[in-house]
Order: sequence, then C-alpha cells, then structure tokens
Amino acid sequence: PTIYGITPTYSRLAQKADLTRLSQTLMHVKNFHWVVIEDSTEKTKLVANLLKESNLKYTHLNIKTHRTKHSTVMDINICLFKTSLYNTSWYCASGVEQRNLALDWLKGYLQKAEDTRGVVYFMDDDNTYSLKVFDEMRKVKNVGVWPVGIVGGMRVEMPLVTDGKVSGYNAWWKPFRPFPIDMAGFAINATLFLEHPEAKFSRKVQSGFQESEILKYFATKDDLEPLADNCTKVYVWHTRTQKPSILNPKKLKRPPVPDDHIEV
Ligand code: UGA
Ligand code: MN
Repeated sequence: PTIYGITPTYSRLAQKADLTRLSQTLMHVKNFHWVVIEDSTEKTKLVANLLKESNLKYTHLNIKTHRTKHSTVMDINICLFKTSLYNTSWYCASGVEQRNLALDWLKGYLQKAEDTRGVVYFMDDDNTYSLKVFDEMRKVKNVGVWPVGIVGGMRVEMPLVTDGKVSGYNAWWKPFRPFPIDMAGFAINATLFLEHPEAKFSRKVQSGFQESEILKYFATKDDLEPLADNCTKVYVWHTRTQKPSILNPKKLKRPPVPDDHIEV
C-alpha cells in the first residue's frame, strides 16, 4: 500500500530546517506520497522548491487558518491563558483546515485511482520518524496504533496491550480523551475515507481531541490494531523545534552584512 503522509506546515525561521530533515527521512520510504499543506493564502517558493528538489512523490496544497472565524472569543482567551501558563502552544489546535483539505484531495484522488490501497498518516513537520514506523503502518488493516516518545509530559505515551488487544492507555495528559493518542501514534486505511467521506477534523472540539475526533469515525478501542511489537517499541518522537532567537540587526553597533537575499 501507498503511505499518504499528510503534513501541515507554516512559515517560520526553522521551517526549512524542519522540512529538510523530514523530507530527507521520507526519501528512504518506498511507496510514499507526501501531501504538504501550507498554512498560507499562497504557496511559497521555499516549500515549492524544497518539494521539487526532494524527488519525492508529492502534492502541494495551501489553505490559511482563519483562527478568528472558527474560534469563539472564549476559545481564544483559554488558548492564550494556557499558552502563557504552560509556555506551550499545543492548546490552540493547529492543522485542522490543512488536514481537512488534504482529506478532500485524497478522496478525489482515490476515486480516480486504479489502486486505492493505502494508509493515511498525519505527520507534524517537526517530529522525528524512524523508518521503522513506516514498515509498521503497512500492516494496518483498518486503524493501527503505536507508542509515541516524548509527548504529553511523558517519556512515552502508549496504548496498553493485553492478549494482542488494546486494553487501555498509558497517558497522563487528558487521559479522559476517547483516544488518548497523539497524531503521530496512529494510521488509518485510506480506503476507509471513501466509505466515510464525512470524516474530518473539527475546530469545535477542545484541545487534544483532534485525534479522537478523526478516530471515532473508524474505530472503537476494541478495533485498534496494536503495532510496533504490541506497542512496546518507540519508532516516532514528538520532538519540537525550539523557537530560535535572532538578534535585531538594527540594534547592533556594527551592522552586519545584509542577508535578506539568502533563503534560510
Ligand atoms: C501537537 C500534535 O502533535 C499536533 O498533531 C497537533 O496538530 C497540535 O498539537 C495541535 O493540536 O495544535 P505541536 O508540536 O504542539 O503538536 O504542534 P505543531 O508541531 O506546532 O503543529 C502541528 C502541525 O501543524 C505542524 O506540522 C505545523 O507545521 C502545523 N502548523 C502549526 C500550521 O500549519 N499552522 C500553525 O499556525 C501552526
Ligand atoms: Mn510539533
């Protein structure tokens, strides 16, 4: 089966570094189709060139997040409050519109495709992926799950497995989530999206519920297929790139040589 990796991305100083690292991992994955969706009103040259030069099979899309349109004032306030409190941005869901656009594209693509076999994997652009995680997801029948390293305040967040079935979860952050699993911890049979065209992400759910929102269309806990050696191996890490701090050239005593013409 083809792996459809769905990656939202947005413009920032470390974007090219993150996308370079990810694309060079993906160069080693067979039968991979990368769907990259820019969070922007127009496609950027930086991403277009990076994709072209990667020699990967890819689809380049874009849609800008309209935070104010979709979020209530209360949502935004809670988001800002928690962000300042915990110094993290994971409370304001990102990637919703981008992943939904990719799913729309995928359905159109599969309807015309001769071979509809495939698996969908939602990939942050700054995570770290072992090639082994892609081998695991080729075994997916409907929905496969596996551990994710360094996420949700834990060394590893993972489904607990008893007699080859998911019996519970080891998760500390919002353990009451219907599926306390990070986006990087599951993959879904692509054909199922044709059977459930209504399946999509939603801005109406509280933070951390995006994964549950999409999974609920396809599985209950009992249906989940534990992979990565019965969920005992970590093949993906929820790494996050630190926001770089750059000196303001205008405030430097000896002004540096201008570098605006150089893509970083
Ligand atoms: C966690 C989860 O791992 C993400 O899958 C989930 O989308 C996110 O929380 C969330 O719900 O906000 P985290 O590391 O906090 O991940 O999020 P980011 O890596 O900053 O963002 C997830 C993806 O969305 C990335 O590929 C990023 O490039 C993209 N993104 C982020 C945008 O397209 N626009 C933004 O404004 C921010
Ligand atoms: Mn991330």
